[in-house]
Parts: sequence; structure tokens; C-alpha cells
Amino acid sequence: MAIQLFVPTFRVEECLVEIRECLEKGWTGLGFKTVEFEEKWKEYTGFPHAHFLNSATAGLHLAVKILKMRNDWDCESEIITTPLTFVSTNHAILYENLKPVFADVDQFLCMNPIDVEKKITDKTKAVIFVGVGGNTGQYEKIVKLCKKNNLKLILDASHMTGTRVNGEIPGKESDAIIYSFQAVKNLPTADSGMICFINKENDEICRKLTWLGINKDTYSRSSDKGAYKWKYDVEYSGYKYHGNSIMAAIALVQLKYLDIDNAYRKQLAYWYDEGFNKSKNIKTVPVADNCESSRHLYIIEVDNRDELLLALNESEIYPGVHYRDNTEYGLYSYAKGTCPVSAQKSEKIMSLPMHLRLKKNDIDYIVKTVIKYAQ
Ligand SMILES: Cc1ncc(COP(=O)(O)O)c(C=O)c1O
Repeated sequence: MAIQLFVPTFRVEECLVEIRECLEKGWTGLGFKTVEFEEKWKEYTGFPHAHFLNSATAGLHLAVKILKMRNDWDCESEIITTPLTFVSTNHAILYENLKPVFADVDQFLCMNPIDVEKKITDKTKAVIFVGVGGNTGQYEKIVKLCKKNNLKLILDASHMTGTRVNGEIPGKESDAIIYSFQAVKNLPTADSGMICFINKENDEICRKLTWLGINKDTYSRSSDKGAYKWKYDVEYSGYKYHGNSIMAAIALVQLKYLDIDNAYRKQLAYWYDEGFNKSKNIKTVPVADNCESSRHLYIIEVDNRDELLLALNESEIYPGVHYRDNTEYGLYSYAKGTCPVSAQKSEKIMSLPMHLRLKKNDIDYIVKTVIKYAQ
């Protein structure tokens, strides 16, 4: 049977009970389950605020927008980011007419603080750090660098659901942390995400912006009496970015299993590591010493990546690539050549199948096939 890169596992019966509650109550939109999930997420992460969204892409946009608004950044402002990410990270900067400046990656495929420091100018206002595959790389050094240079820090934690650093959920040192609960992430729904601002006012503005700039949501209005219900104000030209109760219903169930699921992912990664540890042609991407990765991805580097992908497909194994150097895309090509390590990695990396339905014999088969064709 074909072995896919990602296959989400849902606790179907439990999800259906939660969804049924929404349907019977007649409340599928913002509020009700979204509020419950936000509370549970705050408990799980220890963050002071959490706002449930329809995607991490929306969250990244809001993080950039709100920090720009609140700190009066002009349109010459720059944000330092990574070329080795999903384009959402970098599009968020462009949505606000700011300039993405790319810093190169390190051995963890995360942003290298040495290159970040080199790329800081008078125009730099913030850094976006992406925890690629759930790994936190040199995040702590990036935190220090941001403090020293008075820069805002946005953590794209789309892959980091459940990641710990020194035993704790990282992010309290950032200004905004964004998670993705898209269909194939570690906490899968269908499409949704979470934004956690550390600052209370930022969180309050965010809640208005996710519902068209209206200063009171329908759920809180539903308990108001009579004419007052409709007397809300509109403060911003906001967006339709909030999450809904059906997605939150699924997320509430998935959250209960997140740490157990991630423990199994860790086991899969261990089996891969064991399988590859004597192979000279295959380089595995290390996890930072203090990081307990969510293991969203298992990435290897090989010299014949494209041929290997084809050979694996012939053997009914379907890996992926995370990511292609974003400066290869027309939109970001102005920065081509500025991040040589990313450009080189981008030609060599491959993500092997990583999901809860895989068994030891699947990993053995993948390892054996990769070793056979890797150069
Ligand atoms: C690093 C990274 N950032 C942002 C996103 C966007 O997430 P979403 O699909 O929830 O908008 C993704 C999704 O794949 C991602 O991998």
C-alpha cells in the first residue's frame, strides 16, 4: 500500500460528539466552542492570551499588522525572515507593504542568528522565526538578538504544536506566537489556527480585527437585550479571520491527544535515526539539544534528492520537500543569492513520511529503500 507523507488521525467518535453539540445548540460560528478551545489552549501553553483563527496565515498577517500599527512602522520598514518556509510566513510581511529581508539558515534549517545580526539595518523592525519541523534551532539566541536590538519577535509556530524547550512551551519571549491546525498538522482540524499575543491590548485589537473591526462579537451580543444588540461600533476595516465552533470542536478533542501523538512521532523519528545512523549518504537534520520537537517533519539531506524522490515514488513512498528556497519564487527573487546555505539545502532536503498510522515495518521499508537509492 502507498505510504503517504502525511495522513491525519482523528478520534472520529469523540469529534462527532463535540460537533453534534454545536449542531444541536444551533451555534457553529465564533463563540461557544471557540471560547472553550481558547481557554484550553491557554491552559496547555501557559500563554496569557489566545485567539482562535481560521488559519495560521491569517495569524501571521495579524501579527505583522498589529505590531506595525502599534509601533508606527513606516512602509520603508523591514522584517527579517527565512527563505526556508511556507510562503505564508513571508506573504504576511508583503500584505502590510513591508519588506522581507532574508537571513540564512543553520544546520537545524532554522534562521541562523549570525546571519540575522548581519542583516539588521536602521529599517529593521522585527524578526519572524520559524520552528521548521517543530525544531527550535537557535531560537534562544534570536530572542537575545531581538532584545539587544529592540526588535519585535514573531514566532511562526505552525509546526511547533507541542514542542518544548527546556521542558516548557517556548514563545513567552516573543511578541506573537502563531500555530497552525491545518488538516495535516500535529493538531489537525480542517483549517484553523491560533494567535497568542503576550500584550493584552494587542490581543484586544486582534479580536476586533478578526471580525471586520466590529467591537463586539455576535456571541457576546447574543446575551444583550433588545435594541442594544445592534449598537456595536466599527473601529477598523478588519477581516473575516476568526475561527468557528466546528473547527474548535475537533481541536478540543485533538488537543487531548496531542502529547501522546507527539510521543509516537518521536518514536518514529527514533526509528528513522537508528536506520540512518550508519549511512554515509544520508544526513539527518539534528534537533537542538534543549528542544523536544513536536516532530512535525522528519527531514533528510541527500545529494541526489530529485532522483531519490522519483525512485521512492516508484516504490510507492511519497515524501515531500519542506521547503523550496522562497527566493527562487518570482515574488521574492529580488533576494536571490542572499542566503547561500538555504539555496543549497533547498536542492537536497526531503521530508519522509511522518504520521501516526506508520508502523515500525513501514519505517524499516522506507529506510531500506532510501538507503538503496540515496547518493
Ligand atoms: C511554516 C508555516 N507557516 C505558516 C503556515 C500556514 O498555515 P495555515 O495553512 O494554517 O494558514 C504553514 C502551513 O503549512 C507553515 O508550514
